[in-house]
Amino acid sequence: LPTQLIDQFGRQVDYIRLSITDRCDFRCQYCMAEDMTFLPRHEVMSLEECARLVKLFVRMGVRKVRITGGEPLVRKNALWLFEEIGHLPGLEECVITTNGSQLDKYAQALKAAGVKRINISIDSLQADRFKAITRVGELSKVLGGLEAAIAAGFENIKLNSVLMRGINDDEAEALVNFAIQKRIDISFIEEMPLGEVAHDREQSCVSNKDTLALLKSKFSLTPSTHQTGGPARYWQVNGQATRIGFISPHSHNFCENCNRVRITCQGELFLCLGQDHQVNLLPLLRAHPDDDQPLVEAILHGMHIKPKGHDFDLQRAGPAVIRFMSHTGG
Ligand code: GTP
Ligand code: 5AD
Ligand code: SF4
Repeated sequence: LPTQLIDQFGRQVDYIRLSITDRCDFRCQYCMAEDMTFLPRHEVMSLEECARLVKLFVRMGVRKVRITGGEPLVRKNALWLFEEIGHLPGLEECVITTNGSQLDKYAQALKAAGVKRINISIDSLQADRFKAITRVGELSKVLGGLEAAIAAGFENIKLNSVLMRGINDDEAEALVNFAIQKRIDISFIEEMPLGEVAHDREQSCVSNKDTLALLKSKFSLTPSTHQTGGPARYWQVNGQATRIGFISPHSHNFCENCNRVRITCQGELFLCLGQDHQVNLLPLLRAHPDDDQPLVEAILHGMHIKPKGHDFDLQRAGPAVIRFMSHTGG
């Protein structure tokens, strides 16, 4: 087996993001349409198929796996997968991105299964706004989930926030103060044009340049060398445990250092979040249950067609990519 996944631009892929469900108990405005139709069960990979892919990718040199969704913890028996891969030799980090709504139930078990870090999405600390942004989410439930994760002993918990103009862009300082109080990190993500949603992203998208400028006027910040293998650039809040990350697809192009590929819950290998290039692994998984070679070849073909970078352009009418973030897994 090739022990390294390298694309035609010389980038080494050692990070996979695996979405284990397109379903979610929230309907975040920037992520989903109000009435989403979800995939029928038979089109979704079984958890055994997910585990097989993770093991194969680790044999091919992957060191970090992030489980995403949709909301990964609404998948029935999701814990089985974490138990199966959490302590896999060669896998340095098994991590999860979640909306936090189920963490009160699962935080301890995730920790025991070997999950190293948790990223939790919180866009507002005001209950009514949180409800408006997620359309159905309860802030108190998510904050309870965060407390459960802290109590379970997770270190390096990180919040993810998407600021939207006129909706929650006045909360950057409050969100950072909250992270400081909890001694955790926080990342601000620029909204990306994925899937057709109800609002106009050109209007709503807040540049991280503006958010950084604002936060510099409120906090003492110095650039940090902290690296997670993700696209965020970090600043340290001086005198505090908290680092502030900026994921800025519009104002800073991080694609040249891209080290990751995505696998949807349907077994599609997407080579870039913001492009359509893909290889469908599901038919191979099902046609060759005992032979990984066809999968290996398909994955190597994927490396070959990995595009140079995303093509997000907020000025263009319509989304860059028709599929929703919940399909690709962020
Ligand atoms: P860490 O391991 O903590 O660095 O996590 P991460 O930032 O890689 O993952 P997370 O799931 O917290 O992602 C936060 C946001 O960053 C999500 O909205 C992702 O879609 C976005 N993101 C992650 N990787 C990429 C990427 O390669 N391209 C783009 N455009 N966005 C990305
Ligand atoms: N643009 C930017 N971030 C998004 N997320 C979901 N949809 C979008 C979008 N269109 C974020 C969520 C979560 C992460 C996985 O992706 O807030 O933190
Ligand atoms: Fe669900 Fe996350 Fe999308 Fe919100 S951003 S609807 S929590 S998948």
